Amino acid sequence: MKTITLTGMMGAGKSTIAKILAKKLNIKPIDIDSLIEQNEGEKISEIFSKKGEKYFREIEKNTIDNIFTCENLVISLGGGALENNETREFLLTNSNVIYLQTSPEIIFERIKSNTERPLLCGNMSIEKISEILEKREKNYQTATYKITTDNKTPDQIAEEIIGVL
Ligand code: S3P
Repeated sequence: MKTITLTGMMGAGKSTIAKILAKKLNIKPIDIDSLIEQNEGEKISEIFSKKGEKYFREIEKNTIDNIFTCENLVISLGGGALENNETREFLLTNSNVIYLQTSPEIIFERIKSNTERPLLCGNMSIEKISEILEKREKNYQTATYKITTDNKTPDQIAEEIIGVL
């Protein structure tokens, strides 16, 4: 089985579902944001505030480029990773990319009290989430498979992914 890459907006459940999928398929889960935090020794929010989004996007791209080995993985991306054309094409060629499609209302309910999302810091609203989603939808839609997640449990979503692969 090819490496599986999970994409979708903040709060779509990428990291949670990657862990469940990894267990079910007995392959290793890799969370790109956690790996970045580990390598940089700082939280994503600190990287954004101290070094800026441009720096974050560079290390995000490098981290993804370096993660591919001969071993198959379940990768959970940060919500903006597919915005980079090279990364998107690379992942589409080398993995099965799954778009976890979630409505702005559900995303808002899930992440409204979370302060670790720099792009929504000071503007946590359904409107802001919709605005970001609208800009990204075209790239998310390039995914190999799309799975809607509203009103489904993480386990149901993981089973649905296994079903389409
Ligand atoms: C981002 C999403 C975050 C993290 C960073 C930027 C984005 O990851 O990579 O804050 O651009 O949507 P999650 O999607 O896991 O929240």
